[in-house]
Amino acid sequence: MDFSAFNFSGRHLFVAGGSSGINFGVAQAFARAGARVSLISRSADKVAAAAAQLETLGTQALGIAADVRQPDAVERALAAARERFGPIDVLLSGAAGNFLARALDMSPNAFKTVVDIDLLGSFNVARLAHAHLRKPGACVIQISAGQAFTPTPFQAHVCAAKAGVDMLTRVLAQEWGAEGIRINSIVPGPIADTEGLQRLAPTPQTMEAMAQRVPLKRLGRIEDIARIAMVLASDWGSYITGAVIPVDGGLALTGPRDFTAAAEASRRTGT
Ligand code: COA
Ligand code: NAP
Repeated sequence: MDFSAFNFSGRHLFVAGGSSGINFGVAQAFARAGARVSLISRSADKVAAAAAQLETLGTQALGIAADVRQPDAVERALAAARERFGPIDVLLSGAAGNFLARALDMSPNAFKTVVDIDLLGSFNVARLAHAHLRKPGACVIQISAGQAFTPTPFQAHVCAAKAGVDMLTRVLAQEWGAEGIRINSIVPGPIADTEGLQRLAPTPQTMEAMAQRVPLKRLGRIEDIARIAMVLASDWGSYITGAVIPVDGGLALTGPRDFTAAAEASRRTGT
């Protein structure tokens, strides 16, 4: 994929939940376009390896272990990232967890765990990052999911959490607009070769059914998400704030999905 239309040289990208999948792929695209990148995720080994991989692209990167559910750890990571690379120009917030389970099969702690990571974690990251953002000019991107607006059986926790994430986007766009901070949500569709999709479509059959459900008849690619993130973070997106943008091949138009077969397969394989 050619990202040469974008130049983020000298800019600082901070990614929450950045050590794998979509968020890491977006980080790679920004790194190729010259951005210096700070990453946080829970696993010290994963986040260090991800930062090392970004450095092979010729940029500087910093990986710090921090759980978005722990405000003190997030604050320490933000301070260290700012010390190293200066104020944050682009904040990508996408730490998340998911599993398939009916509401009646979730303990209060199961529901709370996903809400704590996806929603409270996004709040912690945005709230604490505010002091470290470049003002005016910073761009915040929250990674949401279609469950935010499609009521989806087996996904009560994610539906509730991601709906909250998008509402946070809309509120902060108003509270922070006067300071020159823009904030938007990207809503990825089913993205190939990611942990998130593997959890929702654990077999070749459920994966193919997912692709066929998408009006464009293909799974998304991480670069589909990276491209829109770069538009939002560049001058091309300078008048966009408070938007919730599906990048999903039209999946949002198709209504709730039936995860019964996927949940059964996931239960059988223990994923
Ligand atoms: N069905 C029902 N409950 C489940 C479950 C499932 N498939 N998987 C986990 N839970 C419950 C646990 O039983 C526990 O509840 P309990 O204390 O009442 O028993 C609760 O969820 C927390 O589980 P735990 O494993 O302690 O949480 P964690 O903080 O270590 O991990 C998860 C968080 C569960 C979201 C884990 O799957 C994870 O780390 N995910 C990150 C990767 C990911 O999901 N990527 C896709 C992003 S979209
Ligand atoms: P992924 O590879 O599992 O990425 C999740 C990232 O978040 C990892 O880096 C993980 O690293 C980190 N993380 C998890 N819990 C964390 C916590 N408590 N604190 C800090 N970091 C944490 O998943 P993905 O599929 O690429 O998903 C990325 C984002 O896209 C998520 O927000 C997801 O909801 C969204 N999304 C994905 C799809 C899809 O098709 N994949 C579709 C719609 C939306 P550690 O394990 O080291 O913590």
